[in-house]
Order: sequence, then C-alpha cells, then structure tokens
Amino acid sequence: MTTPLALQVAREADRPLGAQIADQIRERITDGRLAGGDRVPSSRALAGDLGVARAVTEQAYTQLVAEGWLEGRHGSGTFVRSTTPLGRPTRRRRRPIGAAGPALVRLDSGTPWIDPRYGDAWRRAWRDVSTARPPSGYPDARGSPELREELAARLGRVRGLDCDPDDVIVTAGTVDGLRNVLGALPPGPVAIEDPGYRAAVATVRALGRDVVDVPALTAPDLTGTTGVYVTPAHQHPLGRMLPAGVRLALIERARTADALVIEDDYDSEFRYDVAPVPALAALDRDRVVYLGTASKTVAPSMRLGWLVAPPPLRERINEGRELTHQVPAWPVQRAFLSLLRDGYVDKVVRSAHRVYADRAARVEAALGRFGTTHGPIAGMYATIEMPAERAARAHAAAREAGYDVPLLGAHCRTARLHGLVVAFGGSVTDAQLDEVLGVLADTLAAATP
Ligand SMILES: Cc1ncc(COP(=O)(O)O)c(C=O)c1O
Repeated sequence: MTTPLALQVAREADRPLGAQIADQIRERITDGRLAGGDRVPSSRALAGDLGVARAVTEQAYTQLVAEGWLEGRHGSGTFVRSTTPLGRPTRRRRRPIGAAGPALVRLDSGTPWIDPRYGDAWRRAWRDVSTARPPSGYPDARGSPELREELAARLGRVRGLDCDPDDVIVTAGTVDGLRNVLGALPPGPVAIEDPGYRAAVATVRALGRDVVDVPALTAPDLTGTTGVYVTPAHQHPLGRMLPAGVRLALIERARTADALVIEDDYDSEFRYDVAPVPALAALDRDRVVYLGTASKTVAPSMRLGWLVAPPPLRERINEGRELTHQVPAWPVQRAFLSLLRDGYVDKVVRSAHRVYADRAARVEAALGRFGTTHGPIAGMYATIEMPAERAARAHAAAREAGYDVPLLGAHCRTARLHGLVVAFGGSVTDAQLDEVLGVLADTLAAATP
C-alpha cells in the first residue's frame, strides 16, 4: 500500500521545488513518519498531487535514491530503504514552532496595522510597569481604578458614551467581556447576527447556550431570547453600519422581549467617511451592554478590553469576579493605562486610520466592479459580495499564489451570502496587498461575463 506524504511546496521560495520535496521526504524518514519498507507514491502521482512537473518529483526521487534513503524495486514502485544509511532512530523529532511547511499569508481581519514610529511610547509604558508598584493584595475585581477612569473619559470623548469609572469593567477583550455578560444573564438562548463573529458564536455555545440566528442589520423578533449580540458600528463581516432607524427598532424589540442588547464595538474608531457614529449603548444604557477592545488599536495579543453594563448586570458581573479574581493581569492593565496617558493609543489610531483609508480605496478600485462592497467605510477589511462560484474561484487562485482570502460564506450560519472578506491591516504589506489584489482582479475579470 502506498503511504500518503502530504507534502507542500512554496513556489515563491528560493529553494528549487525538487529540493523542497526531497527535504520533506528525508525529514519524514529521519523522524520516523516514514519507516523502512513503506512505499511512496509514484513520481507521476506525487507530481499530480503537488501540481508540479513530473521531472521535478523524478529529480527528488533520484536524489534520495542516490543518497540511500529510497530504493526503486523493479515493477513494484519506490520504497523507503529498510535500513536507513545513518542508522538513525525512528523516533519522532520535535518540530520547531512554525515549521509546518510554507504557510499561506492569511488576510486576517483581526490583525491591526500598528505604526512602528511610536515604539518609544510602547517601551516607556513597559518601563513604567517595571517601576510601578503592583497592588499588594488581590486587585480590584472591576479592573484598576486609574485605568477605569481613563477609559470612562475616553468612551465619553470618542464613543459618545457618558459614563463614570465605576460603570466600567476591565476585561481580557471582547470575547472575555461576552463571557462575563453571559455568566450574569438568566439562562436562555442568545440571538446572534448572521453572518457574524464566529468567536461570539463559539463563546455562546461553549457556555451551553443555544444560538438563534437572526439576519444581520435588522431588528428581529427577540422573543424567547435573553440577549442579542450585534456589531452596530461596522457589521462584521458585511462591513455596514446599523442605520439609526434600525438601532431604535432593535432596542424596542429588546425591550419587548426583555432581552439585553450586547454591542460589540470592535473597530468603530476607524471610520473614514464621517466621524465615528456614537455607540448604540449611548441610546439606552439600561438595555445595552457595551463591549470594547484594545485588540484593534494596540494589539490583539494584549488581551485587554472593557465593558459598560446596565447597573443590575454590572453588579452581578462584579460579584462573580470578586469571588473568582477573574481580572486581567495587573501589568497589562498598567501598560495600557500608560499607553492611554501617553497619547499612544490616539496616535496609533490616527496613523492606522490613514493607512486603512488608503488601502480600502485600493481594494475598492481593484475589486469594486466585481461585486457589492458597501463602502468600505471603516476598519481594516472590505467585504465584496459576489456569486459563490466566482468567490470560490478567486479564493482558490489567491491560495495558489500563497494567500488565504477568507470567504464570506465561512461567516454564515443560515444566511446564504457569498463573497470575499479582504483584510488589509497588519496581516499584509503594501506589496502583498497589491499582489493579491492583482490575482483576485485577474481571476474575477476572467470569471465575470
Ligand atoms: C467582530 C469582532 N469583534 C471583536 C474582535 C476582537 O475580539 P477580542 O477583543 O476578543 O480580541 C474581533 C477581532 O477580530 C472581531 O472581528
């Protein structure tokens, strides 16, 4: 029986394709994944699997036979030699992190572009952490009072959300905020916009609640649900804003059903066409819980965010946290406080804003004619709706060129929408963005009647 090899080749790499194939087979023999006597695929079959010329796989096999790793047996195929020439143990070698083969560049809508010019402020913040004194006992379960004060002031200034420091709870990001909220809500299903943020769906389900799919950008009937999760400033992943009338209707629906509106305000500061639209929570502080994050402005790896909840819910969340000490690590809170006080957050937001506006215009210019783009108005991705078959073709062509451009369909549950979600934040350089846009545009031009 032939042993499948699951090899990968990187066309853009400097190393010749034949050598890449030989390297990977050699590695599989030395680490024991291929054992003496295993039959490897024929050079023709391997060439077909990898989409390379047969001469390339033949060259790799010839090399490995010459080195003594493989042997050809007349009429029955190519086999791993039973005694490896170096007598290496067939123990599995530990693979270094990230060495899983040539990776695709993933156009990830969660990765922000951060202006490297402000590295000094970043270092200052961590120096400040190193000289400040941590609380001697367990920290304030709501988050550091100084940070909550800065956040309350900032929310008023940039999100139109008038609140006191004691209204704010520091979280480890949006998903953690959502977990806090769900932990304090009565049992019951949660409605989530469809298409929508997959991490929110997974979080609700992981906590044992059912997810009710409701169409994105609408004010659905919420009867029987305990809450509804929405992204009003920049619907994820459709990239549109929830219009004023629908905002009011949604709050009314939530009141009628006695459900909570959970507002994920993940990238609202990056609006290019008009000033950021005030948070939905500013319309009704008793019905809407607001979730904010540092993931889009500073770094998703900070794992820092905040929430502003209606008072009874806030008290329940705080009681739970006091009991469990579930509060982000003090150094991270302190560093973020320094970054806010130093003006770092405002500066990186301003410069990223310029980069995103420019890149968004490039995406629109390259792909706008192939589908419906709704803007793009904000954030670090643009979604282009188009027929499924065309989106799939463009997605496959991008993969072939080394890029993973997510499909809109991957964010849908019951919704049937198709297209591409083209992220242009920190996951790509300008040159890579231009390259992948070229591939997408060429493929779509060929596929569009
Ligand atoms: C819709 C949405 N909300 C929130 C986030 C950020 O989540 P967190 O704050 O948990 O990093 C993202 C990140 O990609 C997102 O796409």
